[in-house]
Amino acid sequence: MEHSPERSNQPLADLSYALDNAAKEASSRFQALAEAFDPATIRHLEDVGVAPGWHCLEVGAGGGSVASWLAARIAPSGRLLITDIDPRFLESLDLPNTQVLRHNIVTDPLPEAAFDLVHARLVLTHIPDRAAALARMATALRPGGWLIDEEIDISLAPDPASFPGEVRSSTFDGMLRVMEQRGVDHRFGRRLFAHLRALGLVHVAAEGMTSVWSAGSPGVAILRANYQQLGEDMIHFGYITAQQFEQDLAALDDPAFMMPSPILWSARGQRP
Ligand SMILES: C[S@@+](CC[C@H](N)C(=O)[O-])C[C@H]1O[C@@H](n2cnc3c(N)ncnc32)[C@H](O)[C@@H]1O
Repeated sequence: MEHSPERSNQPLADLSYALDNAAKEASSRFQALAEAFDPATIRHLEDVGVAPGWHCLEVGAGGGSVASWLAARIAPSGRLLITDIDPRFLESLDLPNTQVLRHNIVTDPLPEAAFDLVHARLVLTHIPDRAAALARMATALRPGGWLIDEEIDISLAPDPASFPGEVRSSTFDGMLRVMEQRGVDHRFGRRLFAHLRALGLVHVAAEGMTSVWSAGSPGVAILRANYQQLGEDMIHFGYITAQQFEQDLAALDDPAFMMPSPILWSARGQRP
């Protein structure tokens, strides 16, 4: 793996989004995220009653799988706004009654008291100013509208000492470190319930989902995309060697590979 010669070995204070959608790994990541998480996400959206005619906002829509489901669900009379700081995968979706916006949830203007539903998944985990972003999302709800946010929690990281057979690699740890350098909070999902309560939302609830990731699973495809996108940085900052990286990447395809997935917390609250 080649390194960029002009970079210092010291981690820089770079808080831009760690998993830039311009990278070649982005499309496989979005496909794997959809396979791993859309069934749970859709169940939560159905639970709050998303229906034809709703006005919805999907924040940080990424590859657009949830946005596509929402657009079909609220048709023919609903309206959907889908945003992302880099909407390159959204612009070609051609969904009915939908507007796509290049938009930063922290800094760009957002309508207030406008939406029946505001949803985001795995977006605020990446944003250093996540509490402010969540508060803005709540303000965008009309009275009675639902906020659903789904974020990660790595409390169940692999622990081979306690659970023989689980794999925890230096590359996994290096990935976490590089992402934390870029402002990621790997346990934000766990805090969502308290945040939604503090925002004055009602009917607040949170549910966590986890599964075992093994070779061939969508979860392992997410790991592969993240390792490949962040591998150069992990090696550059000395968290792993190039040889270790190649071994750990290959181990993802080992039929014996297994690890508990991070928990995806799906939290909801309703504006009174
Ligand atoms: C890990 S992806 C998740 C994509 C999608 N929500 C999903 O679950 O499949 C995070 C997405 O958030 C977007 N994003 C990152 N920072 C953002 C910000 N400040 N405002 C809006 N979108 C942002 C990224 O461009 C990326 O598409």
